Amino acid sequence: SDYGTDGHRHFMHKEIAEQPDAVRRVLKGRLDERFQTVRLGGLEMDAREMREFRRVKILGCGSAYYAGQAGAQFIEELARIPADAEPASEFRYRNPVIEKDTLYVAVSQSGETYDTLVAVQELKRKGGRVIGLVNAVGSSIARECDGGVYLHAGPEVAVASTKALTNMMVGFALLGLHLGRIRDVSPADGRRLLQALTALPEQIETILADEEQLAAVAKTLAQAPSLFFVGRTRGFPVAREGAQKFKEISYRHAEAYQTSELKHGPLALVGPDLPTVAIVPDDELLDRNLGALQEITARSGPLVVVTHDGVDLGVTSAHVVAVPKSEPELDPLLLTIPLQLLAYHAALLLGHDVDKPRNLAKSVTVE
Ligand code: AGP
Repeated sequence: SDYGTDGHRHFMHKEIAEQPDAVRRVLKGRLDERFQTVRLGGLEMDAREMREFRRVKILGCGSAYYAGQAGAQFIEELARIPADAEPASEFRYRNPVIEKDTLYVAVSQSGETYDTLVAVQELKRKGGRVIGLVNAVGSSIARECDGGVYLHAGPEVAVASTKALTNMMVGFALLGLHLGRIRDVSPADGRRLLQALTALPEQIETILADEEQLAAVAKTLAQAPSLFFVGRTRGFPVAREGAQKFKEISYRHAEAYQTSELKHGPLALVGPDLPTVAIVPDDELLDRNLGALQEITARSGPLVVVTHDGVDLGVTSAHVVAVPKSEPELDPLLLTIPLQLLAYHAALLLGHDVDKPRNLAKSVTVE
């Protein structure tokens, strides 16, 4: 194919850089300014049918599952429908109860992940209603689902997913707003979220412009044998995805925890040799998160804090990475972007094959 790295050193770098345009594409034609909602023509369901769902269950593997966790939070917050995510690789083996009033959502970049495909087939066999959030047009999962939302991230070559994941999160935000506006979300709130979605591409550009600083921070992390990534509520899927990306390409052990769980065990490991990357959004949990940062610095744990512009962390020894503020519900999207560059630069420094990490395939199409 003629899809090359376009002067970038790696596909992963190119795909990170493409994110502002990728987000423009997933939003294109879908924002309805007149009714402060979104248009998702591919869903093949009218408002009345969509209102019948009492629960949303998201299925995907690996990073798509983490995007699904963020997605479940978007949907629950925006539409006030109980939502959760589960690895498709587990769901397909555990004889799950399939409910008529649950909307199942399969999420996949390649559309060919075997575990996700089999989960969809099992759901359909049992009469479940399943839509797809899929990047690859015409792929097996897309064809198997009852309609869905194409992610339009364009081809993704690097094994470590970046732009497709970002578009998954945008796709879930669109779905959440759509479900919300046929329930209790007001036109004013709809407008607030549409504006936040529209602002994303430029905000991503701002984050990417800080690459040099992120490369410097990556240098402080690359030598550590083991790291923690912590976040709570909206920050937790971000931490999980950050740890996954770091592991995949740097081959360093990285473990994600809810910040709130540190004191229930993992804090025992914190010390000068174990850096923590903490996700600290400027939201209603800020004070609690700041308390946790103090617990870490009191034990001389090196800290990288991914936060919002203007937040006073009250700790001086931390490396601070600040991203632009979005609306709280959408914060996970932007907080994820710097973690891609941290992983990328750590892997680069360690001399690894960034685009083709050992033991991994771009899509796992076998049992
Ligand atoms: C992403 O960085 C990973 N390589 C991997 O976890 C991936 O997200 C997972 O295998 C799912 O792939 P899919 O989105 O193509 O279904």
